[in-house]
Amino acid sequence: MASVRSPTVREGIHCGSPALPYGRASDTKANGYCIESLPDREIASCSGACYHPNFHMPAVAHSITSERVHEQFANAGRVLVLTGAGVSAESGVPTFRGGGNTAVWKGVPFEVISSARMLERDLPAVWEWFNYRRELLAALKPNPAHEAISRWQDKFSELTLVTQNIDGLHQAAGSRHVIELHGNIWRARCFDCGARHDVRELMFDQGVPSCFDCGGHLRPDVVLFGEMLPAGAFERAAAAAQQCDLCFVVGTSAVVYPAASIPEIARSAGAYVVEVNPERTPLSDLCHEVITGNAGEILPLLCQKPDR
Ligand SMILES: NC(=O)c1ccc[n+]([C@@H]2O[C@H](COP(=O)([O-])OP(=O)(O)OC[C@H]3O[C@@H](n4cnc5c(N)ncnc54)[C@H](O)[C@@H]3O)[C@@H](O)[C@H]2O)c1
Ligand SMILES: [Zn+2]
Repeated sequence: MASVRSPTVREGIHCGSPALPYGRASDTKANGYCIESLPDREIASCSGACYHPNFHMPAVAHSITSERVHEQFANAGRVLVLTGAGVSAESGVPTFRGGGNTAVWKGVPFEVISSARMLERDLPAVWEWFNYRRELLAALKPNPAHEAISRWQDKFSELTLVTQNIDGLHQAAGSRHVIELHGNIWRARCFDCGARHDVRELMFDQGVPSCFDCGGHLRPDVVLFGEMLPAGAFERAAAAAQQCDLCFVVGTSAVVYPAASIPEIARSAGAYVVEVNPERTPLSDLCHEVITGNAGEILPLLCQKPDR
């Protein structure tokens, strides 16, 4: 099976995994890429290069749900939902690009401490950083957006949920078979035997944890900068995108690849594509509809009849 490289950024500042809640901008080159992360990136040649030219048309923008989207929602059989950090924003998880700054933790840029190279260089520091983030996330609960998507499992003949988030909030809301493109902060895996373990119960002040099976060192089971996506995850998402009638793109800045190509695949294959985001993104022009607003307010409305 073809391997898929780690997330790449088309136009944004940085990519990777959850941000720190409080941070300041790190140094960036004029082209917007972090100096540190540059070697780990595939950089698209131009910000619009990945778009299909035929899709460069303005989408219909609504701040409330349209009759058309309700019609699509009522008649769809196969639905794909791609979520990003924005779907968890109303739970209190900071988005990565919210405010445009990139976090620095103890003087180390976010994408350096969250890199494959750092695993080799300083595994205890990587765990200290992940334990800090696990502790922040531990108290957070799913919001109405996660809950709405979870309810959709029973509504459509097939619902594929693909997330870039590592926070586990979709599963906490009851979503099953979530395709996690970037792993999960509540799991760790063993360097030696490859076993995956639930680390939800692990103390936050523990150093490098040991494998429950073989005693080897564990690492967070998330995709770090410079790493491949989990085997098969993108392929399964892409196959579902080929098949779906309706595709929602929720709370993603759509600059991290290959995740952002999933709605492009759905669109090419004939699906109706709807974006839910308070801001426009590089994918907005590709979508049939852009619903401008917070996911936690918009998604629950889709199950209700439009009042127009
Ligand atoms: N919760 C998490 O696990 C988490 C958090 C931050 C970043 N990340 C990781 O960082 C990378 C960043 O890419 P990304 O596109 O997911 O996030 P991003 O931070 O780049 O973009 C967040 C997007 O969400 C939108 N948004 C903000 N509030 C929203 C709301 N209430 N409802 C709907 N949309 C809202 C923003 O306008 C923005 O477009 C991903 O690889 C992801 O793995 C994960
Ligand atoms: Zn092991």
